[in-house]
Amino acid sequence: MQVITTKDDFKAAMGAEKAQRRSIGLVPTMGALHDGHISLVRQSRASCDLTAATIFVNPLQFGENEDFGVYPRTLESDLAKLERAGADVAFVPAVADIYPDGFETSLTNSATSRVLCGAHRPGHFDGVLTVVLKLLNMSRCDRAFFGKKDYQQLTLIRRMALDLDVPAEIIGCETVREETGLARSSRNAYLSADDRARAVKLSAALMAMRSRFDAGERDVSQLMLAAAPVTNDPAISLDYLEIRSPDLATRFERSVEGPAVVLIAAKIGSTRLIDNMELGEPAEWVAAA
Ligand code: PAF
Repeated sequence: MQVITTKDDFKAAMGAEKAQRRSIGLVPTMGALHDGHISLVRQSRASCDLTAATIFVNPLQFGENEDFGVYPRTLESDLAKLERAGADVAFVPAVADIYPDGFETSLTNSATSRVLCGAHRPGHFDGVLTVVLKLLNMSRCDRAFFGKKDYQQLTLIRRMALDLDVPAEIIGCETVREETGLARSSRNAYLSADDRARAVKLSAALMAMRSRFDAGERDVSQLMLAAAPVTNDPAISLDYLEIRSPDLATRFERSVEGPAVVLIAAKIGSTRLIDNMELGEPAEWVAAA
């Protein structure tokens, strides 16, 4: 595996692959890699000639009081994991290379980014979209792979690709879970044993809601009752628990008929966790062109 640390070298390496008509798969990450990231690498390898993973803790997507400073940075073991997973390139740029002096342009989504996590983390998705577009442009990738665990992020990236005519295909990959059901996340590293036991309640609530939906329940308040172990736990501070359409545009508040997604975000101790689960036939969101 080739480790590349500058934007110019990365662009040159990807350009050379393109010149040889090799397809490029991009796996953008912020490091602290877990099985979820590795499954993205595997899926890229299965459909692309070359897989480039990026490791960049993007300052633009962290709010002032968020965890940018303490976000887990585990470069050595990340590189070993990528190598084992068969990535061809790891791109590990410095902040000053991605955002040099004079950098003053960023992307804004003015609708989907304002709900759910966007309502609790102002500016977060502008930072995500800006860095993702830069990485897509630098890599000239054919496909880019993102986990469905960050469902709103994936939806926004798909919207951006469509709105801005980005030529890469955006692929959403299934959430990887621990045996307990807890969604794999780099932020799980922050959880104490007690926190972890509480965190498991989030996925359990989503699964219970899905079981009720599968059994025919369509009343939103009845579905929400299945999440009582979360909503009644005073040590879990809920940011939101909502049922929305697959494109997130519609919030279902009374009844839910078609395919939908339940999304949750909560703070356990000082750790903010998100998770989601599709209801009904998994509906890959495809926006009308
Ligand atoms: O999901 C993440 O790890 C980040 O938001 C991403 C997509 C790598 C952009 O920094």
